[in-house]
Amino acid sequence: MNSKKALSKFSKIALIFIFIFLKTPDAFSQKNHSMAHENNAVESKIDSIISLLTLEEKVDMCHAQSKFSTKGVERLGIPEIWMSDGPHGVRAEISWDSWDFAGWTNDSITAFPALTCLAATFNPELSGAFGYSLGEEARYRKKDVLLGPGVNIYRTPLNGRNFEYMGEDPFLASKMVVPYIKGVQKNGVAACVKHYALNNQELWRNQVNVEVSDRALYEIYLPAFKAAVIDGGVWSLMGAYNKFRGQYCCHNELLLNKILKKDWGFDGVVVSDWSGAHNTYESAMFGLDIEMGTGTDGLGSTTANHYDHYYLATPFLKSLKAGDIDESVVNDKVRRILRLMYRTNMSSNRPLGRKNNQEHHDVARKVATEGIVLLKNKNNFFPIKDENITIAVIGENATRSMTAGGGSSELKPQFEISPLEGLKMRYKNATIVHSMGYATGPSVYDAVIPSKLDADSLRVEAIKVAKNADIVLFFGGLNKSHLQDCEGADREQFNLPFGQDELLNDILRVNKNVGYILVSGNAVEMPWLNSINGVIQTWYLGSMAGYAIADVISGDVNPSGKLPFSFPVKLQDNAAHSFGELSYPGKDYNQVYKEDILVGYRWHDTKKIAPLYAFGHGLSYTSFNITDIKVDKKAYTPQDKIKLTCQVTNTGDLEGAEVVQVYIGKQKSKVKRALKELKGFQKINLKSGGQKAVEITIDAANLAFYDESISDWNLEKGDYIIYVGNASNNIAETIKVNIK
Ligand code: GLC
Repeated sequence: MNSKKALSKFSKIALIFIFIFLKTPDAFSQKNHSMAHENNAVESKIDSIISLLTLEEKVDMCHAQSKFSTKGVERLGIPEIWMSDGPHGVRAEISWDSWDFAGWTNDSITAFPALTCLAATFNPELSGAFGYSLGEEARYRKKDVLLGPGVNIYRTPLNGRNFEYMGEDPFLASKMVVPYIKGVQKNGVAACVKHYALNNQELWRNQVNVEVSDRALYEIYLPAFKAAVIDGGVWSLMGAYNKFRGQYCCHNELLLNKILKKDWGFDGVVVSDWSGAHNTYESAMFGLDIEMGTGTDGLGSTTANHYDHYYLATPFLKSLKAGDIDESVVNDKVRRILRLMYRTNMSSNRPLGRKNNQEHHDVARKVATEGIVLLKNKNNFFPIKDENITIAVIGENATRSMTAGGGSSELKPQFEISPLEGLKMRYKNATIVHSMGYATGPSVYDAVIPSKLDADSLRVEAIKVAKNADIVLFFGGLNKSHLQDCEGADREQFNLPFGQDELLNDILRVNKNVGYILVSGNAVEMPWLNSINGVIQTWYLGSMAGYAIADVISGDVNPSGKLPFSFPVKLQDNAAHSFGELSYPGKDYNQVYKEDILVGYRWHDTKKIAPLYAFGHGLSYTSFNITDIKVDKKAYTPQDKIKLTCQVTNTGDLEGAEVVQVYIGKQKSKVKRALKELKGFQKINLKSGGQKAVEITIDAANLAFYDESISDWNLEKGDYIIYVGNASNNIAETIKVNIK
């Protein structure tokens, strides 16, 4: 290179260096400059950097260099990107080149409740605190991308990863995911909304090809991702393993290029799921920006560094050099990656992060206590006063760690309070006796059934303990081991595993005073329900589990959680399981979501199949009335906002919180519709005897349906019914409005 050229190159580098690392303080510290200005400044810096990068350096940025990181550009001081799971806590450090833990001793964290619990709080503000706290811990662990939240819709109760997601309703998931993402990203850590899209089961997840109508795609499966991008401003997104309409989701022209990047204007980075990429040309041309996890056995097919064999590595470089793929394609990927860096590890005003601190523990406990759902409370079985009584605590789930297992969302918490520990610390005047009752085996991942002898001795002992107690609390459910709410496989039965039903019936024969605590991320069959007075759904609650469970059982906290998904009485009552194997789990790796838009309560309401427990259901230790429901107009234009008000009264003698839910349906329509769909909700806290007005605003435009005949949203004119209540099957009043 001649001296003149060298000089200009050098001055460019110097200029960039000044910009990037000795940034004039006011460029980022000014509070009042517009985002646009900052974006322009960043975009021009990105232009400058791209002009300096070699083709090899650009390609290197588009794929993994290790299990959870991508290469930077050493000579320019551009950093590596470090990613970590997961959606409810920062995973322990993983080795460079294998799934093994790295064996660090400084990577323990706060385990927050799983996202079904967060969704059950119906509290978007709390979701923001959750995201912010989790983002702080990710920042402190020096992670640039947090691989969560997951928002795949709960279509079947058998899906192994439902516990990681936000339930069956797209509106609830959309409202809860946005503050979570903003909270995480306030720490200069990118959230990574996943798994885009239609990854609604674990069975055959790497192969299954999902077919679903445009209407169901846009109305049910995409809204939470759209909200994450447009309202949440998410900086990265993870493609799903499965195929959609014959193309892998990690390089899917319709999902990534058309809908995500063109229609929604996503300016962030698309990351593949680990080994979710399968083709160089498609990865290059159909929207994948960073390929992770392909052939992550560390050895690949040769002893050469197998990361060079990634689809977006050497094969991609060759195609670029041969001119088969234009350089603009890799430049767009690098631009997105550098934009993510300016938002994270190249941002000059990035917070420092914190972990294992009191505030995070408080947030984890609050989400847990607000997410716990009181399903049944006959004869006021709960709360249980701390008196001189004997409480039998039965079941392995009273002591088993629930932060371990589950797959990639597994955690290494600094501590984890078990339900038994929580009860023992809270009930100082009672006698607490624990008996395992049933066991599932030593390893976190294999559900090994104990030998016949073990099972019998455990059963006999549990019955004896229960017989001699005043009250029995049965801690059962699933446990995040293989087939029991765990990534990589679905449940193979809807009823409870490990002989819990039989044990429960044995115990009921010797003691009628039984409460069932369901530790799970999924609905289960409850054949014994009529014989049980109290049932609580307690989710996977993380580090503070025992404290939160004792808070609710003792009445220190009045439960206010609402179910984010329906409990069918039996599996066949669930929509996905009503259309044979093509609908679930699929046939020859092809699957058709035949229930279409009628997922969850939409199915139960429309087909008049009563659920065991309904979406939105959750009892309180007090009682509430929802009355005086009014709307501000009788007729609305499509641009209007519907202003609904109502009065909520706490008619019981305890302070508590209620969730007002607003569903809307249209009886006469040119297309089939669900009876009603959630379009608004608000949680309200009231002292005993208190009364407050609640106002819920709904954009009339949100009543539109996705019209396949015009490939766009269509707001039908005419009458709509507004249903207001505190559960999808507990409506206080309906009122009619008209869209003109
Ligand atoms: C896993 C999961 C994904 C996770 C990734 C990295 O297979 O599907 O959610 O973030 O790989 O562990």
